[in-house]
Amino acid sequence: MRQSTSFHVAIVMDGNGRWATRRGLPRAAGHRAGAEAVRRAVEIAPGCGISALTLYAFSSDNWTRPAAEVSVLMRLFARYLRKETAELAEKGVKLTVIGRRDRLPRSLLDAITAAEQGTARGTKLELRIAVDYSARAAIQRGDLLPDVDLLIRTGGEQRLSDFLLWECAYAELWFTDRMWPDFGAAHLAAAVHEFHSRDRRFGGLPTREAV
Ligand code: IPE
Ligand code: IPE
Ligand code: MG
Repeated sequence: MRQSTSFHVAIVMDGNGRWATRRGLPRAAGHRAGAEAVRRAVEIAPGCGISALTLYAFSSDNWTRPAAEVSVLMRLFARYLRKETAELAEKGVKLTVIGRRDRLPRSLLDAITAAEQGTARGTKLELRIAVDYSARAAIQRGDLLPDVDLLIRTGGEQRLSDFLLWECAYAELWFTDRMWPDFGAAHLAAAVHEFHSRDRRFGGLPTREAV
Protein backbone atom coordinates (compact mmCIF):
# COMPACT_ATOMS: atom_id res chain seq x y z
CA MET A 1 0.00 0.00 0.00
CA ARG A 2 1.20 3.51 -0.68
CA GLN A 3 2.16 5.40 2.42
CA SER A 4 2.49 9.11 2.48
CA THR A 5 3.26 11.57 5.23
CA SER A 6 1.53 14.43 3.45
CA PHE A 7 -2.22 14.80 3.34
CA HIS A 8 -3.41 16.67 0.27
CA VAL A 9 -6.99 17.89 0.26
CA ALA A 10 -8.53 19.62 -2.75
CA ILE A 11 -11.83 21.50 -2.71
CA VAL A 12 -14.18 22.53 -5.51
CA MET A 13 -15.73 25.51 -3.73
CA ASP A 14 -19.09 25.52 -5.48
CA GLY A 15 -22.45 27.12 -4.67
CA ASN A 16 -21.67 30.77 -3.93
CA GLY A 17 -24.15 32.05 -6.50
CA ARG A 18 -27.02 29.81 -5.39
CA TRP A 19 -26.33 30.63 -1.75
CA ALA A 20 -26.83 34.31 -2.54
CA THR A 21 -29.80 33.90 -4.89
CA ARG A 22 -31.69 31.87 -2.28
CA ARG A 23 -31.29 34.78 0.11
CA GLY A 24 -32.43 37.36 -2.45
CA LEU A 25 -28.89 38.73 -2.64
CA PRO A 26 -26.72 39.47 -5.68
CA ARG A 27 -24.29 36.67 -6.65
CA ALA A 28 -21.41 38.95 -5.62
CA ALA A 29 -22.59 38.64 -2.01
CA GLY A 30 -22.22 34.88 -2.33
CA HIS A 31 -18.67 35.27 -3.57
CA ARG A 32 -17.85 37.56 -0.64
CA ALA A 33 -19.30 35.01 1.79
CA GLY A 34 -17.29 32.37 -0.05
CA ALA A 35 -14.08 34.27 0.71
CA GLU A 36 -14.95 34.07 4.41
CA ALA A 37 -15.39 30.32 4.07
CA VAL A 38 -11.91 30.14 2.54
CA ARG A 39 -10.51 31.93 5.60
CA ARG A 40 -12.19 29.39 7.89
CA ALA A 41 -11.01 26.36 5.91
CA VAL A 42 -7.42 27.59 5.79
CA GLU A 43 -7.47 28.32 9.49
CA ILE A 44 -8.62 24.85 10.51
CA ALA A 45 -6.76 22.81 7.88
CA PRO A 46 -3.49 22.21 9.79
CA GLY A 47 -5.48 21.13 12.87
CA CYS A 48 -7.17 18.48 10.70
CA GLY A 49 -3.79 17.10 9.69
CA ILE A 50 -3.93 18.66 6.23
CA SER A 51 -0.49 19.59 4.91
CA ALA A 52 -1.54 20.73 1.43
CA LEU A 53 -4.82 22.37 0.45
CA THR A 54 -5.69 23.14 -3.17
CA LEU A 55 -8.76 25.33 -3.69
CA TYR A 56 -10.59 25.77 -6.99
CA ALA A 57 -11.47 29.45 -7.11
CA PHE A 58 -11.91 30.16 -10.84
CA SER A 59 -11.89 27.75 -13.74
CA SER A 60 -10.76 28.59 -17.25
CA ASP A 61 -14.39 28.00 -18.27
CA ASN A 62 -15.59 30.61 -15.76
CA TRP A 63 -14.45 33.32 -18.23
CA THR A 64 -17.72 32.62 -20.06
CA ARG A 65 -19.68 34.23 -17.20
CA PRO A 66 -20.92 37.83 -17.49
CA ALA A 67 -18.05 40.34 -17.40
CA ALA A 68 -19.45 42.01 -14.28
CA GLU A 69 -19.29 38.76 -12.28
CA VAL A 70 -15.80 37.97 -13.57
CA SER A 71 -14.64 41.41 -12.55
CA VAL A 72 -16.12 41.05 -9.04
CA LEU A 73 -14.27 37.75 -8.67
CA MET A 74 -10.93 39.14 -9.87
CA ARG A 75 -11.21 42.07 -7.44
CA LEU A 76 -12.18 39.74 -4.62
CA PHE A 77 -9.18 37.46 -5.24
CA ALA A 78 -6.82 40.44 -5.14
CA ARG A 79 -8.48 41.75 -1.99
CA TYR A 80 -8.27 38.36 -0.28
CA LEU A 81 -4.57 38.09 -1.09
CA ARG A 82 -3.76 41.63 0.10
CA LYS A 83 -5.78 41.22 3.29
CA GLU A 84 -4.58 37.76 4.26
CA THR A 85 -0.90 37.66 3.33
CA ALA A 86 0.49 38.89 6.66
CA GLU A 87 -1.65 36.54 8.72
CA LEU A 88 -0.93 33.57 6.44
CA ALA A 89 2.80 34.21 6.74
CA GLU A 90 2.49 34.44 10.51
CA LYS A 91 0.68 31.10 10.61
CA GLY A 92 3.29 29.36 8.47
CA VAL A 93 1.11 29.03 5.38
CA LYS A 94 2.87 29.04 2.02
CA LEU A 95 0.51 30.33 -0.64
CA THR A 96 0.88 29.80 -4.36
CA VAL A 97 -1.51 30.44 -7.20
CA ILE A 98 -1.82 27.85 -9.96
CA GLY A 99 -3.35 28.25 -13.41
CA ARG A 100 -2.77 30.59 -16.34
CA ARG A 101 -1.52 34.05 -15.51
CA ASP A 102 -1.52 35.69 -18.90
CA ARG A 103 -5.24 36.58 -18.82
CA LEU A 104 -5.39 37.98 -15.27
CA PRO A 105 -5.66 41.70 -14.56
CA ARG A 106 -2.43 43.50 -13.62
CA SER A 107 -3.68 44.40 -10.13
CA LEU A 108 -4.36 40.74 -9.38
CA LEU A 109 -0.96 39.70 -10.74
CA ASP A 110 0.71 42.19 -8.43
CA ALA A 111 -1.27 40.87 -5.45
CA ILE A 112 -0.31 37.28 -6.38
CA THR A 113 3.39 38.14 -6.57
CA ALA A 114 3.28 39.94 -3.22
CA ALA A 115 1.37 37.07 -1.54
CA GLU A 116 3.68 34.40 -2.93
CA GLN A 117 6.77 36.33 -1.89
CA GLY A 118 5.34 37.23 1.50
CA THR A 119 4.46 33.63 2.39
CA ALA A 120 7.36 31.83 0.68
CA ARG A 121 8.88 30.63 3.94
CA GLY A 122 5.76 28.89 5.29
CA THR A 123 6.16 25.23 6.21
CA LYS A 124 2.91 24.31 8.04
CA LEU A 125 0.47 24.32 5.14
CA GLU A 126 0.89 24.50 1.39
CA LEU A 127 -2.08 26.47 0.17
CA ARG A 128 -2.66 26.53 -3.57
CA ILE A 129 -5.38 28.64 -5.09
CA ALA A 130 -6.41 27.69 -8.61
CA VAL A 131 -7.32 30.70 -10.74
CA ASP A 132 -7.87 30.44 -14.51
CA TYR A 133 -7.17 26.77 -13.99
CA SER A 134 -7.97 23.91 -16.35
CA ALA A 135 -6.71 20.43 -15.52
CA ARG A 136 -6.63 19.43 -19.18
CA ALA A 137 -4.47 22.43 -20.01
CA ALA A 138 -2.21 21.73 -17.00
CA ILE A 139 -1.73 18.13 -18.13
CA GLN A 140 -0.86 19.28 -21.65
CA ARG A 141 1.74 21.66 -20.23
CA GLY A 142 3.02 18.97 -17.86
CA ASP A 143 2.28 21.09 -14.72
CA LEU A 144 1.35 18.32 -12.34
CA LEU A 145 0.77 18.55 -8.60
CA PRO A 146 1.18 15.87 -5.93
CA ASP A 147 -1.60 13.26 -5.81
CA VAL A 148 -4.80 14.36 -4.11
CA ASP A 149 -5.87 12.24 -1.13
CA LEU A 150 -9.31 13.74 -0.56
CA LEU A 151 -11.39 15.73 -3.03
CA ILE A 152 -14.31 17.67 -1.58
CA ARG A 153 -17.02 19.35 -3.65
CA THR A 154 -19.70 21.53 -2.11
CA GLY A 155 -22.85 22.78 -3.83
CA GLY A 156 -24.50 19.45 -4.63
CA GLU A 157 -22.93 18.65 -8.01
CA GLN A 158 -20.96 15.45 -8.32
CA ARG A 159 -18.41 16.24 -11.00
CA LEU A 160 -14.84 17.48 -11.33
CA SER A 161 -15.40 20.39 -13.76
CA ASP A 162 -11.83 20.14 -15.11
CA PHE A 163 -10.11 20.23 -11.70
CA LEU A 164 -7.01 18.10 -10.95
CA LEU A 165 -8.01 15.30 -13.32
CA TRP A 166 -4.59 13.67 -13.23
CA GLU A 167 -3.92 14.16 -9.52
CA CYS A 168 -7.29 12.68 -8.47
CA ALA A 169 -6.53 9.26 -9.95
CA TYR A 170 -6.92 7.62 -6.50
CA ALA A 171 -8.49 10.48 -4.55
CA GLU A 172 -11.31 9.70 -2.18
CA LEU A 173 -14.34 11.75 -3.25
CA TRP A 174 -16.63 13.53 -0.78
CA PHE A 175 -19.67 15.47 -1.95
CA THR A 176 -22.04 17.63 0.04
CA ASP A 177 -25.22 19.55 -0.86
CA ARG A 178 -24.08 22.36 1.42
CA MET A 179 -23.23 25.56 -0.47
CA TRP A 180 -19.63 26.74 -0.13
CA PRO A 181 -20.40 29.86 2.00
CA ASP A 182 -22.06 27.55 4.56
CA PHE A 183 -19.07 25.22 4.73
CA GLY A 184 -17.35 25.54 8.09
CA ALA A 185 -14.76 23.97 10.31
CA ALA A 186 -17.08 21.16 11.41
CA HIS A 187 -17.78 20.13 7.81
CA LEU A 188 -14.11 19.98 6.89
CA ALA A 189 -13.43 17.97 10.04
CA ALA A 190 -16.30 15.59 9.14
CA ALA A 191 -14.95 15.03 5.63
CA VAL A 192 -11.47 14.30 7.00
CA HIS A 193 -12.91 11.97 9.62
CA GLU A 194 -14.77 10.01 6.96
CA PHE A 195 -11.66 9.91 4.79
CA HIS A 196 -9.80 8.11 7.58
CA SER A 197 -12.48 5.41 7.71
CA ARG A 198 -12.17 4.61 3.99
CA ASP A 199 -10.11 1.64 2.85
CA ARG A 200 -7.82 2.93 0.09
CA ARG A 201 -6.70 -0.07 -1.87
CA PHE A 202 -4.86 1.45 -4.87
CA GLY A 203 -5.76 -1.65 -6.85
CA GLY A 204 -4.50 -4.01 -4.19
CA LEU A 205 -6.42 -6.03 -1.62
CA PRO A 206 -8.21 -4.69 1.44
CA THR A 207 -5.67 -3.91 4.17
CA ARG A 208 -6.88 -6.67 6.48
CA GLU A 209 -6.64 -9.31 3.73
CA ALA A 210 -3.13 -8.38 2.62
CA VAL A 211 -0.39 -10.66 3.95
C1 IPE B 1 -18.32 28.81 -7.08
O1 IPE B 1 -19.61 29.23 -6.97
C2 IPE B 1 -17.36 29.94 -7.37
C3 IPE B 1 -16.95 30.03 -8.77
C4 IPE B 1 -17.15 29.16 -9.71
C5 IPE B 1 -16.22 31.22 -9.15
P1 IPE B 1 -20.53 29.47 -8.25
O2 IPE B 1 -20.36 30.88 -8.68
O3 IPE B 1 -20.29 28.45 -9.28
O4 IPE B 1 -21.96 29.27 -7.60
P2 IPE B 1 -23.19 28.51 -8.22
O5 IPE B 1 -22.73 27.13 -8.60
O6 IPE B 1 -23.64 29.31 -9.39
O7 IPE B 1 -24.18 28.47 -7.11
C1 IPE C 1 -16.29 24.72 -10.70
O1 IPE C 1 -17.55 25.24 -10.47
C2 IPE C 1 -15.28 25.82 -10.65
C3 IPE C 1 -15.08 26.42 -9.34
C4 IPE C 1 -15.67 26.08 -8.23
C5 IPE C 1 -14.12 27.47 -9.31
P1 IPE C 1 -18.52 25.63 -11.68
O2 IPE C 1 -19.74 26.19 -11.05
O3 IPE C 1 -17.80 26.50 -12.64
O4 IPE C 1 -18.76 24.22 -12.36
P2 IPE C 1 -19.98 23.69 -13.23
O5 IPE C 1 -20.29 24.73 -14.26
O6 IPE C 1 -21.12 23.49 -12.28
O7 IPE C 1 -19.50 22.38 -13.79
MG1 MG D 1 -21.08 26.61 -9.68
